Amino acid sequence: MPLSDAPLFTAEAIQRRVAQLAAEVSRDFAGRDPIAIIVLKGALHFGSDLTRQMNVPVTIDFIRAKSYAGTRSQGTVEILVPPSVPLQGRDVIIVEDILDTGRTATAIQERLLSEGPSSVAFCTLFDKPSRRELELKADYVGFTIEEDFVVGYGMDHDEQYRDLPEVYVLKTPE
Ligand code: IMP
Ligand code: MG
Repeated sequence: MPLSDAPLFTAEAIQRRVAQLAAEVSRDFAGRDPIAIIVLKGALHFGSDLTRQMNVPVTIDFIRAKSYAGTRSQGTVEILVPPSVPLQGRDVIIVEDILDTGRTATAIQERLLSEGPSSVAFCTLFDKPSRRELELKADYVGFTIEEDFVVGYGMDHDEQYRDLPEVYVLKTPE
């Protein structure tokens, strides 16, 4: 499927915003040593850029989730790869590419909370609040966007476009 001619967000705009988020997160976690749980695969570039610009000692780990749309109204989310670092008593920051219906984020939050961390914060580069089905508010949001399907900077359509440094809107056929 074709992409929008112009990027919705250029690489420069993304990097500027990620730097601001890194400063904000660093301020809030000053004096602590949080764990960033990067949600694969979509948040790989965001997680990498964000953590490299944070100025608190941050442990990096990953979680991989898969959501099934299913035939029933409620999609289910399976945790394919859980974190490998113990989370008990730690400050956890979930790093996501995009918050959409909220199902993936809710499932990930529940899974991480079951390990007894002392806090769990949610940081997403993109937020589509108009698509929310489960009530959930992110602590850190890079950009609030419309309902368009976006790709690039880690985000895919059928495993394509993750490599692009900018973000485009996927044009759906007329
Ligand atoms: P949710 O469970 O509906 O909130 O979906 C969140 C997940 O769906 C994200 O982690 C993305 O992997 C994927 N997703 C949602 N919207 C988009 C989009 O516009 N582009 C690419 N992936 C998306
Ligand atoms: Mg994702």
